[in-house]
Amino acid sequence: MGSPHWKRLCLLLVAGLTSSLLLYGHYYATVESTTSQRFIASLLQPEPLVLAPLGTSRQATSHRWALEGGPAPSQPSMCLHSVMARAKADPKFGEIFRFDTPVLMWDQHFTPETWDRLKKRHVPYGWQGLSQAVVGSTLRLLNASANRHLFDRDTFPGGCVRCAVVGNGGILNGSRQGKAIDAHDLVFRLNGAVIKGFEEDVGTKISFYGFTVNTMKNSLIAYEEYGFTQIPQAKDLRYIFIPSDFRDYVMLKSAIQGSPVPEGSDKGDDPQKYFGPEASAEKFKLLHPDFLQHLTARFLRSELLNTQYSSLYMPSTGALMLLTALHTCDQVSAYGFITANYEQFSDHYYEVEKKPLVFYANHDMMLEAALWRSLHRAGIMTLYQR
Ligand SMILES: *[C@@H]1O[C@H](CO)[C@@H](O)[C@H](O)[C@H]1NC(C)=O
Ligand SMILES: *[C@@H]1O[C@H](CO)[C@@H](O)[C@H](O)[C@H]1NC(C)=O
Repeated sequence: MGSPHWKRLCLLLVAGLTSSLLLYGHYYATVESTTSQRFIASLLQPEPLVLAPLGTSRQATSHRWALEGGPAPSQPSMCLHSVMARAKADPKFGEIFRFDTPVLMWDQHFTPETWDRLKKRHVPYGWQGLSQAVVGSTLRLLNASANRHLFDRDTFPGGCVRCAVVGNGGILNGSRQGKAIDAHDLVFRLNGAVIKGFEEDVGTKISFYGFTVNTMKNSLIAYEEYGFTQIPQAKDLRYIFIPSDFRDYVMLKSAIQGSPVPEGSDKGDDPQKYFGPEASAEKFKLLHPDFLQHLTARFLRSELLNTQYSSLYMPSTGALMLLTALHTCDQVSAYGFITANYEQFSDHYYEVEKKPLVFYANHDMMLEAALWRSLHRAGIMTLYQR
């Protein structure tokens, strides 16, 4: 049972299962009445060590960064009413946010110390079972200054950097929020972000597109019938890779090099088919596995972690994008995210006939809904509701 060989086998099975669950998903019973209790419970445990030890003491953390080249060169914000200011002033969220956690991973992070630490943690947010050569050679390519921050503050002089994060929820159908969304400095979109035909409701601007290779490719299959036939491409668009699997590192490396994927389940794929002709490190951002672990443990610590699904559990792609924006932008508006009255809306804004929201076994949408409501009430972000 406990042999490493058996564990590897299980991981492989789990990796296979993840893709089928994401694609076909099945409903799991959500007991609404316990949601707020669960949320409170998760807030009361600000330092849970759920998947693997985080090394969370502040001293240990800064020591680690010192070894790894330090956090991103910090560009101070000139914004008075920022997410950071409001979160720090909030009694509950002040304890949960840690703005000094590096959001992105880049070449300097790949040290023997980091390898030894992350190889002990299983996927999605660890490197157990991954090839050191592949992870290392991928990270070494992330050597541009653009790989160390999501955006350059100098290009937004004097003010607050305002971000919109656009989920794909049915609440946006008929919302006429397109202009308001596009008025933000930066717009994050993700997975099956259909724009054509829905400009009035969801806008057209796109600064970041976030995904795992698994969700990106599944979106192309599942939402093709709604017009999602291509991953968004544009000159100024940046791609945010959420590492959750070997596939993400292999695809990222191939994308930067502009060459076909050499191995794994995406072998032979041409990354330019997804990301366009411009292959360069500047075009791609990689979320730090420790940041994802931190978000999961502190903001979205689901009870699913105590079930047979624990190694499959991940916050949704939308949740990870929204929390990424909350850790980098000065002001954040969330559109198309789950609200208390989600049952009134279709799963996605582009469906022709109303479909109920799909609850995938590997996500905890009720916990996410409670978090968005709570952040909105605390004035830390604005959640679009109707
Ligand atoms: C980054 O790495 C690539 C490939 O090794 C190299 O050609 C390039 O000069 C490096 N860029 C910087 C900014 O160090
Ligand atoms: C989206 O809105 C249109 C116009 O209001 C409506 O006809 C359509 O049924 C809606 N789609 C869904 C899936 O609710």
